[in-house]
Amino acid sequence: MRQKLVVGNWKMHGCGADNRRLLQALVAGLPTVGDASVAVCVPFPYLAQAQSLLAATPLAWGAQNLSEHAQGAYTGEVSAAMLADFGCRYAIVGHSERRALYGEADAQVAAKFAAAKAAGITPILCVGETLAQRESDETVAVVSAQLDAVLDAVGVAAFADAVVAYEPVWAIGTGRTATPAQAQAVHAAIRARVAGRDADVARGLQILYGGSVKAQSAGEIFAQADIDGGLVGGASLVAEEFLAICQAANR
Ligand code: PGA
Repeated sequence: MRQKLVVGNWKMHGCGADNRRLLQALVAGLPTVGDASVAVCVPFPYLAQAQSLLAATPLAWGAQNLSEHAQGAYTGEVSAAMLADFGCRYAIVGHSERRALYGEADAQVAAKFAAAKAAGITPILCVGETLAQRESDETVAVVSAQLDAVLDAVGVAAFADAVVAYEPVWAIGTGRTATPAQAQAVHAAIRARVAGRDADVARGLQILYGGSVKAQSAGEIFAQADIDGGLVGGASLVAEEFLAICQAANR
Protein backbone atom coordinates (compact mmCIF):
# COMPACT_ATOMS: atom_id res chain seq x y z
CA MET A 1 0.00 0.00 0.00
CA ARG A 2 1.31 3.42 -0.91
CA GLN A 3 1.11 5.99 1.82
CA LYS A 4 -1.23 8.90 1.16
CA LEU A 5 0.32 12.36 0.86
CA VAL A 6 -1.41 15.73 0.94
CA VAL A 7 0.58 18.82 -0.06
CA GLY A 8 -0.61 22.39 0.33
CA ASN A 9 0.50 24.79 -2.40
CA TRP A 10 0.12 28.27 -0.94
CA LYS A 11 1.08 29.94 -4.24
CA MET A 12 1.77 33.68 -3.72
CA HIS A 13 -0.34 34.05 -0.58
CA GLY A 14 0.43 34.71 3.04
CA CYS A 15 2.20 37.05 5.42
CA GLY A 16 4.21 36.37 8.56
CA ALA A 17 1.34 36.70 11.02
CA ASP A 18 -1.19 34.71 8.98
CA ASN A 19 1.33 31.97 8.22
CA ARG A 20 2.16 31.56 11.88
CA ARG A 21 -1.52 31.13 12.76
CA LEU A 22 -2.10 28.72 9.88
CA LEU A 23 0.96 26.59 10.60
CA GLN A 24 0.19 26.43 14.31
CA ALA A 25 -3.39 25.40 13.60
CA LEU A 26 -2.19 22.70 11.20
CA VAL A 27 0.31 21.33 13.69
CA ALA A 28 -2.37 21.32 16.41
CA GLY A 29 -4.80 19.48 14.12
CA LEU A 30 -2.35 17.01 12.64
CA PRO A 31 -2.89 14.26 15.23
CA THR A 32 -6.45 13.92 13.89
CA VAL A 33 -5.14 13.12 10.43
CA GLY A 34 -3.75 9.67 11.10
CA ASP A 35 -1.28 8.06 8.73
CA ALA A 36 -1.31 10.44 5.77
CA SER A 37 1.86 12.50 5.27
CA VAL A 38 1.24 16.22 5.06
CA ALA A 39 3.38 19.05 3.70
CA VAL A 40 3.06 22.72 2.83
CA CYS A 41 4.88 24.47 -0.02
CA VAL A 42 5.34 28.08 1.02
CA PRO A 43 6.73 31.15 -0.79
CA PHE A 44 10.55 31.38 -0.60
CA PRO A 45 10.75 34.18 2.01
CA TYR A 46 8.75 32.08 4.49
CA LEU A 47 10.89 28.96 4.33
CA ALA A 48 12.81 30.07 7.43
CA GLN A 49 9.53 30.60 9.27
CA ALA A 50 8.29 27.16 8.20
CA GLN A 51 11.56 25.60 9.30
CA SER A 52 11.50 27.21 12.74
CA LEU A 53 7.82 26.44 13.40
CA LEU A 54 7.73 22.94 11.89
CA ALA A 55 11.16 21.46 12.56
CA ALA A 56 10.04 19.39 15.54
CA THR A 57 6.65 18.43 14.04
CA PRO A 58 5.43 15.81 11.54
CA LEU A 59 4.39 18.58 9.11
CA ALA A 60 6.92 18.75 6.26
CA TRP A 61 7.57 21.83 4.13
CA GLY A 62 8.88 22.65 0.71
CA ALA A 63 9.16 25.18 -2.08
CA GLN A 64 6.99 25.89 -5.10
CA ASN A 65 9.83 26.23 -7.59
CA LEU A 66 13.62 26.17 -7.83
CA SER A 67 16.38 27.00 -10.27
CA GLU A 68 17.76 24.31 -12.53
CA HIS A 69 21.23 25.84 -11.97
CA ALA A 70 23.48 25.03 -9.01
CA GLN A 71 24.78 28.59 -8.57
CA GLY A 72 25.90 31.61 -10.52
CA ALA A 73 24.74 34.81 -12.14
CA TYR A 74 21.00 34.10 -12.14
CA THR A 75 19.49 37.15 -10.48
CA GLY A 76 16.35 36.36 -8.55
CA GLU A 77 16.72 32.59 -8.71
CA VAL A 78 16.93 30.13 -5.81
CA SER A 79 18.97 26.92 -5.97
CA ALA A 80 18.14 23.46 -4.69
CA ALA A 81 21.02 23.62 -2.21
CA MET A 82 19.52 26.80 -0.75
CA LEU A 83 16.20 25.02 -0.32
CA ALA A 84 17.98 22.13 1.36
CA ASP A 85 19.63 24.65 3.70
CA PHE A 86 16.14 25.56 4.89
CA GLY A 87 15.11 21.97 5.41
CA CYS A 88 12.84 21.61 2.39
CA ARG A 89 11.63 18.07 1.90
CA TYR A 90 9.76 18.83 -1.33
CA ALA A 91 9.90 21.16 -4.33
CA ILE A 92 7.10 21.52 -6.84
CA VAL A 93 8.40 21.46 -10.42
CA GLY A 94 6.55 22.23 -13.63
CA HIS A 95 3.38 23.60 -12.08
CA SER A 96 1.06 24.65 -14.90
CA GLU A 97 1.26 28.27 -13.74
CA ARG A 98 5.05 28.13 -14.19
CA ARG A 99 4.65 26.51 -17.60
CA ALA A 100 1.96 28.95 -18.79
CA LEU A 101 3.05 32.23 -17.18
CA TYR A 102 6.83 31.84 -17.14
CA GLY A 103 7.37 29.76 -20.24
CA GLU A 104 8.84 26.73 -18.52
CA ALA A 105 9.21 24.02 -21.13
CA ASP A 106 9.63 20.30 -20.58
CA ALA A 107 13.44 20.40 -20.81
CA GLN A 108 13.68 23.06 -18.10
CA VAL A 109 11.20 21.20 -15.93
CA ALA A 110 13.34 18.06 -16.29
CA ALA A 111 16.47 20.03 -15.30
CA LYS A 112 14.69 21.40 -12.22
CA PHE A 113 13.60 17.88 -11.31
CA ALA A 114 17.22 16.71 -11.57
CA ALA A 115 18.47 19.68 -9.52
CA ALA A 116 16.03 18.90 -6.71
CA LYS A 117 17.02 15.24 -6.67
CA ALA A 118 20.73 16.12 -6.58
CA ALA A 119 20.11 18.15 -3.40
CA GLY A 120 18.12 15.37 -1.73
CA ILE A 121 14.80 17.14 -2.22
CA THR A 122 11.78 15.18 -3.46
CA PRO A 123 10.41 16.78 -6.62
CA ILE A 124 6.66 16.98 -7.09
CA LEU A 125 6.35 16.90 -10.89
CA CYS A 126 3.13 18.49 -12.15
CA VAL A 127 1.54 17.36 -15.38
CA GLY A 128 -1.84 18.13 -16.88
CA GLU A 129 -3.82 19.06 -19.95
CA THR A 130 -5.69 22.23 -20.89
CA LEU A 131 -9.43 22.21 -21.52
CA ALA A 132 -8.88 22.41 -25.29
CA GLN A 133 -6.56 19.40 -25.12
CA ARG A 134 -9.10 17.42 -23.09
CA GLU A 135 -11.89 18.31 -25.47
CA SER A 136 -9.85 17.13 -28.41
CA ASP A 137 -9.08 13.87 -26.62
CA GLU A 138 -5.38 14.56 -26.18
CA THR A 139 -5.23 14.23 -22.40
CA VAL A 140 -3.21 11.03 -22.16
CA ALA A 141 -0.90 12.04 -25.02
CA VAL A 142 -0.16 15.42 -23.42
CA VAL A 143 0.43 14.03 -19.94
CA SER A 144 2.55 11.17 -21.32
CA ALA A 145 4.73 13.61 -23.27
CA GLN A 146 5.25 15.77 -20.16
CA LEU A 147 6.18 12.67 -18.19
CA ASP A 148 8.42 11.20 -20.89
CA ALA A 149 10.42 14.43 -21.13
CA VAL A 150 11.48 14.00 -17.51
CA LEU A 151 11.84 10.20 -17.64
CA ASP A 152 14.10 10.50 -20.70
CA ALA A 153 16.25 13.14 -19.02
CA VAL A 154 16.67 11.67 -15.54
CA GLY A 155 15.84 7.96 -15.94
CA VAL A 156 13.06 6.02 -14.27
CA ALA A 157 15.14 5.20 -11.17
CA ALA A 158 14.95 8.88 -10.18
CA PHE A 159 11.20 8.41 -9.79
CA ALA A 160 11.72 6.00 -6.91
CA ASP A 161 11.84 9.04 -4.66
CA ALA A 162 9.67 11.50 -6.52
CA VAL A 163 6.01 12.44 -6.61
CA VAL A 164 3.85 13.11 -9.66
CA ALA A 165 0.85 15.43 -9.46
CA TYR A 166 -1.84 15.23 -12.10
CA GLU A 167 -3.37 18.69 -12.30
CA PRO A 168 -5.78 19.29 -15.17
CA VAL A 169 -5.24 22.98 -16.02
CA TRP A 170 -8.99 23.54 -16.36
CA ALA A 171 -9.53 22.40 -12.77
CA ILE A 172 -6.94 24.63 -11.09
CA GLY A 173 -8.49 27.45 -9.09
CA THR A 174 -11.70 27.18 -11.08
CA GLY A 175 -13.90 25.30 -8.64
CA ARG A 176 -14.26 22.67 -11.34
CA THR A 177 -12.84 19.36 -10.15
CA ALA A 178 -12.22 16.37 -12.38
CA THR A 179 -14.65 13.60 -11.55
CA PRO A 180 -13.10 10.76 -9.58
CA ALA A 181 -13.40 8.55 -12.68
CA GLN A 182 -11.75 11.15 -14.96
CA ALA A 183 -8.88 11.59 -12.52
CA GLN A 184 -8.45 7.85 -11.91
CA ALA A 185 -8.24 7.18 -15.66
CA VAL A 186 -5.35 9.63 -16.06
CA HIS A 187 -3.62 8.43 -12.90
CA ALA A 188 -3.79 4.85 -14.18
CA ALA A 189 -2.32 6.00 -17.50
CA ILE A 190 0.54 7.78 -15.70
CA ARG A 191 1.29 4.70 -13.62
CA ALA A 192 1.18 2.48 -16.71
CA ARG A 193 3.55 4.84 -18.51
CA VAL A 194 6.08 4.61 -15.69
CA ALA A 195 5.50 0.83 -15.44
CA GLY A 196 6.54 0.59 -19.08
CA ARG A 197 10.01 1.52 -17.84
CA ASP A 198 10.02 -0.05 -14.37
CA ALA A 199 7.09 -1.88 -12.77
CA ASP A 200 8.43 -1.62 -9.21
CA VAL A 201 9.01 2.12 -9.43
CA ALA A 202 5.50 2.53 -10.85
CA ARG A 203 3.94 0.50 -8.04
CA GLY A 204 5.57 2.66 -5.38
CA LEU A 205 5.03 6.03 -7.08
CA GLN A 206 2.78 8.48 -5.24
CA ILE A 207 0.53 10.20 -7.78
CA LEU A 208 -1.41 13.15 -6.37
CA TYR A 209 -4.49 14.78 -7.84
CA GLY A 210 -4.69 18.57 -7.90
CA GLY A 211 -7.31 21.00 -9.09
CA SER A 212 -9.98 22.54 -6.85
CA VAL A 213 -9.75 19.79 -4.23
CA LYS A 214 -12.10 20.61 -1.35
CA ALA A 215 -12.97 18.72 1.84
CA GLN A 216 -16.30 17.75 0.33
CA SER A 217 -14.86 16.21 -2.84
CA ALA A 218 -11.58 14.84 -1.47
CA GLY A 219 -12.86 11.56 0.00
CA GLU A 220 -14.20 10.15 -3.24
CA ILE A 221 -11.17 11.30 -5.25
CA PHE A 222 -8.65 9.87 -2.77
CA ALA A 223 -10.54 6.55 -2.69
CA GLN A 224 -9.55 5.81 -6.31
CA ALA A 225 -7.02 3.03 -6.77
CA ASP A 226 -4.27 5.13 -8.36
CA ILE A 227 -4.83 8.38 -6.47
CA ASP A 228 -2.44 8.68 -3.56
CA GLY A 229 -3.44 12.06 -2.19
CA GLY A 230 -3.69 15.65 -3.31
CA LEU A 231 -1.90 18.84 -4.24
CA VAL A 232 -4.16 21.48 -2.78
CA GLY A 233 -4.08 25.20 -3.63
CA GLY A 234 -6.84 27.48 -2.37
CA ALA A 235 -8.19 25.08 0.24
CA SER A 236 -4.76 24.74 1.86
CA LEU A 237 -4.96 28.34 3.12
CA VAL A 238 -7.77 27.53 5.55
CA ALA A 239 -6.69 25.26 8.40
CA GLU A 240 -9.99 23.45 9.03
CA GLU A 241 -10.57 22.85 5.32
CA PHE A 242 -7.04 21.59 4.70
CA LEU A 243 -7.14 19.34 7.78
CA ALA A 244 -10.48 17.92 6.62
CA ILE A 245 -8.87 17.12 3.24
CA CYS A 246 -5.97 15.42 5.03
CA GLN A 247 -8.44 13.39 7.08
CA ALA A 248 -10.19 12.35 3.87
CA ALA A 249 -6.86 10.97 2.65
CA ASN A 250 -6.81 8.65 5.59
CA ARG A 251 -10.06 6.84 4.94
P1 PGA B 1 -6.37 24.74 -6.46
O1 PGA B 1 -4.84 24.71 -6.91
O2 PGA B 1 -6.56 23.68 -5.41
O3 PGA B 1 -6.59 26.13 -5.92
O4 PGA B 1 -7.19 24.46 -7.68
C1 PGA B 1 -4.15 23.50 -7.06
C2 PGA B 1 -2.74 23.77 -7.55
O5 PGA B 1 -2.58 24.62 -8.43
O6 PGA B 1 -1.76 23.15 -7.08
